[in-house]
Amino acid sequence: MKMHELQAEILRLKKETNTAILAHSYQAREIVEIADFTGDSYKLSVDAKSVDADNILFCGVHFMAETAKMLSPQKRVFLANGLAGCPMAEQMDADLIGQLKAQEPDRTVVAYINTTASLKTVCDVCVTSSSALKIVENLESNKILFIPDCNLGDFVKRNFPDKDIKLLQGGCPVHASVTVHDVEKAKSAHPDALVLVHPECVPAVVERADYVGSTSGIMNYAIKSENKEFIIGTELSIAEHLQYECPDKKFYPLSKKIVCPNMKLTTLPDVYNSLKGINNGEAFEILMSDELIINARKCIDEMIRLGG
Ligand code: 13P
Ligand code: SF4
Repeated sequence: MKMHELQAEILRLKKETNTAILAHSYQAREIVEIADFTGDSYKLSVDAKSVDADNILFCGVHFMAETAKMLSPQKRVFLANGLAGCPMAEQMDADLIGQLKAQEPDRTVVAYINTTASLKTVCDVCVTSSSALKIVENLESNKILFIPDCNLGDFVKRNFPDKDIKLLQGGCPVHASVTVHDVEKAKSAHPDALVLVHPECVPAVVERADYVGSTSGIMNYAIKSENKEFIIGTELSIAEHLQYECPDKKFYPLSKKIVCPNMKLTTLPDVYNSLKGINNGEAFEILMSDELIINARKCIDEMIRLGG
């Protein structure tokens, strides 16, 4: 089947099964094109709450579909490729964080949304890369334990030098692979380009950027900017999407190493097969106990309250 024929079939099945497709911006172009909602992890969390359909099919990684399930527990939520996980989400376990919390009960545990639902049950509030600064600013407490990404944590810490922010060693292996040398090389190849990076990159890379923000933040900045050239310091897909959105501008990937193998797992045939499998048990459904949903959702509700 040709790609556009598969896309047409997906649009038909979506209607037939009353399913909304949520796709993270790191998904392939052909998936973004047939999605009902696209964006960064904060936007998709808010969208998941307002979806008007019986089912949600999530194209992204496991913790994102889990978040959608927590925010829309009455809906059936499916992940288009059940093998797509985020390694950062698995880096810290709930028992360890629970112990640290018991040692310092007055320290607010702020969790990047890239965490499992079970870890979220012991955290006080979630943040995403686009909402972290606003949420930390709005927190009453000045004593914070920020997990798991020490690079995003460092970015937050630099913005709030008066807050006592403790970090642990965790992070995204894909973004952390970018080096200062990559930045210098890209800048010397494209001296007129602005450097836009995701805060999951290491501090020395973030320091050299003209703009630091989430995937949606980077896209919006480039779309609105008067500048014509940009070096994009996040997953390769973002430079490609931007090139479609702004054909009169030029986008260069900061490094060809920034490819997320998990985000890249989902294919258009996965989306098609998931829609076909929704009513016969073959699609990958996110199943969570009511207790887990109630306990893990608190810190997501708190994120939306403080970030709204
Ligand atoms: P965003 O919050 O920017 O969507 O980031 C999610 C993510 O996994 C980035 O690697
Ligand atoms: Fe996880 Fe990094 Fe992939 Fe984002 S890019 S999903 S943080 S591994």
